[in-house]
Amino acid sequence: MHAMTEANLQTPSSAVKPNPPRIEEWTEKYRRLATTGRGLMAPTETLVRMFKGPYIADMPKSFAGLRALDVGFGNGNNSLWLCALGLDVYGVEIGQGIVDDFRKRLDSAGYKATLAVGSNLKLPFESDFFDFLISWNVLHYENTEATILAGIAEYARVLKPGGRLFLSTTGPEHKILTGAKTVGAHLYEIGRDDDFRKGERFFYFDAPNYIHFYFGPLFADVMVGRTHDYLFTETLDWWLVTGRKRADGEARIVT
Ligand SMILES: C[S@@+](CC[C@H](N)C(=O)[O-])C[C@H]1O[C@@H](n2cnc3c(N)ncnc32)[C@H](O)[C@@H]1O
Repeated sequence: MHAMTEANLQTPSSAVKPNPPRIEEWTEKYRRLATTGRGLMAPTETLVRMFKGPYIADMPKSFAGLRALDVGFGNGNNSLWLCALGLDVYGVEIGQGIVDDFRKRLDSAGYKATLAVGSNLKLPFESDFFDFLISWNVLHYENTEATILAGIAEYARVLKPGGRLFLSTTGPEHKILTGAKTVGAHLYEIGRDDDFRKGERFFYFDAPNYIHFYFGPLFADVMVGRTHDYLFTETLDWWLVTGRKRADGEARIVT
């Protein structure tokens, strides 16, 4: 049975413990992929399309001099491409090892970026600073409604009024949910034996209306897209979200 159709909504989101940050696992994972040559070494195609395609009306022709923050940049595939676009790139990761490894990759590619240790909930930058914020498969590491909301608020804090968010997060048919248990509203316990996150609980948006509900108070013109790929043995399903940080006076509270 698919995870989303199980009805066992007994765990209130507020009762969920935070997942451990898994700094070592992520650091090792990127090092292993670099050694085996199995990791993606290219930017995510959908992010490229969102920046350069005709889907978002007000994207500038030139990015030179504009600031972009890549939250949870991982091995930096997207950040490198953002550098190539001419953006002034900043990045945050949860561990110093991941930061150091990407610094070497940046240096050998001849790019410069400002990298720091931080997290969804703690972005070490001043408010109203960025023109763009990229959160690519990272927000769902906050696993309660309260911390998801806090992450969205932290993203909004560092964006300039009118600055644009680009976000991808797990969709309802994504491979990570194979064998998962539904343990609360939007809450899923990972069940895959081959994944280091087995047993941890994640908050995933079940449908676009929830994305509008959670992002709408701080972001205007929210659009929700989706990519759904079946790659022979696994399904990759992601929500894509973009919107502009509401300018002063535009903020509204959902009641
Ligand atoms: C699925 S990977 C995505 C990496 C990269 N954004 C990409 O698309 O290639 C998730 C990343 O989020 C980072 N991460 C985990 N917990 C985080 C948190 N609470 N705040 C920010 N980043 C986090 C991990 O270290 C990992 O690199």
